[in-house]
Amino acid sequence: MSAPLPSIVIQGTGAFCPPKVLSNDDLAKRVDTSDEWIRTRTGIQERRIAEDKTTSQMAVEAAKQALQNANLSAQDIDLVIVSTITPDMPFPSTAALVQAQLGIPAVACFDLEAACSGFLYALEVGTQMLRSGNYKNALLIGAEKMSSIIDWEDRNTCVLFGDGAGAVVLSKTEEADTGVLGTLLGADGSKGDLLCMPGSGSSCPPTQTSLEQRQHFLKMNGREIFKSAVRVMEQATCDILKQHQLSTSDVACIVPHQANIRIFETLAERLELPLDRFFMNLESYGNTSAASIPIALHEAWEQNRLKPGDLILLVAFGGGLTWGSSLIRWQ
Ligand SMILES: CC(C)(COP(=O)(O)OP(=O)(O)OC[C@H]1O[C@@H](n2cnc3c(N)ncnc32)[C@H](O)[C@@H]1OP(=O)(O)O)[C@@H](O)C(=O)NCCC(=O)NCCS
Repeated sequence: MSAPLPSIVIQGTGAFCPPKVLSNDDLAKRVDTSDEWIRTRTGIQERRIAEDKTTSQMAVEAAKQALQNANLSAQDIDLVIVSTITPDMPFPSTAALVQAQLGIPAVACFDLEAACSGFLYALEVGTQMLRSGNYKNALLIGAEKMSSIIDWEDRNTCVLFGDGAGAVVLSKTEEADTGVLGTLLGADGSKGDLLCMPGSGSSCPPTQTSLEQRQHFLKMNGREIFKSAVRVMEQATCDILKQHQLSTSDVACIVPHQANIRIFETLAERLELPLDRFFMNLESYGNTSAASIPIALHEAWEQNRLKPGDLILLVAFGGGLTWGSSLIRWQ
């Protein structure tokens, strides 16, 4: 008989949200919008702005807290994965920059990009690498400086996003049947143009023309994204529960990607769940892309919403299009 698989557990969480607050009223001074419109259409009241802090610097702050909560030091980490669409620069990776700032030993460090679903992609990659036997403690970070790719003249998008970082320490333990039970991931590249940043890559390096055409900012078709988000988040939730022969009533807390309260309301209705089963903090931070789930997870833990033995469901959706869901038995 083969030995049971080791459990991969979240040993500690951390978050960093920069202190500078940008309220809906502040935004209404820049573009033709209002606090009332933003609140009722999205649930967002304010977001944080990193100002001169970089993505890696925010990631480092979140990571320090996760290490402290895990009772581990930088020396204990043997894998660093950063999920981001706003790296400090194309290379070196943000993960390598974090490694250097934290004094982590000469271990594997890389970035992974799956937009707002990035943290769940990192969770799956980290879990499988730990399970393979070669790694013991991984630092997984979602960090974004969305303010650096937002078009501050576009009211359709600038009201939605914010900056921040969240981190977890993922560790291998001998305990059975706890921690990350499974993760499902998916993507549909044919719908990539619904949410994208056309410029800055090899197909559109910065030129005078591309700058004038505002190609280096995030572009979005909000209505289509909304419809896709509801559909795939519902599907990803149902699929992972079915795979583990569980139902929505077994889930103590859903920690979703924080995009729009109306997406949660529609999901809650379709899944026949009370809205308070969803952990929400989007009113304070807006959509922080890959950082949103680890920040929410950390705050849910801080607020005692995650208790030992609880079944936690993470679900995300983002550009790519990408999506994912993950089931965790909290320890
Ligand atoms: C963006 C979003 C909030 C727009 O809400 P909506 O109810 O779909 O609004 P609509 O797109 O129907 O636009 C309604 C009107 O409001 C206007 N509008 C858009 N942004 C506005 C703003 N910030 N303030 C005021 N009016 C705004 C539109 O121009 C449109 O005007 P029109 O009818 O004259 O053309 C919503 O579609 C959404 O949340 N989509 C998903 C976005 C998302 O989560 N992206 C990240 C995924 S990871």
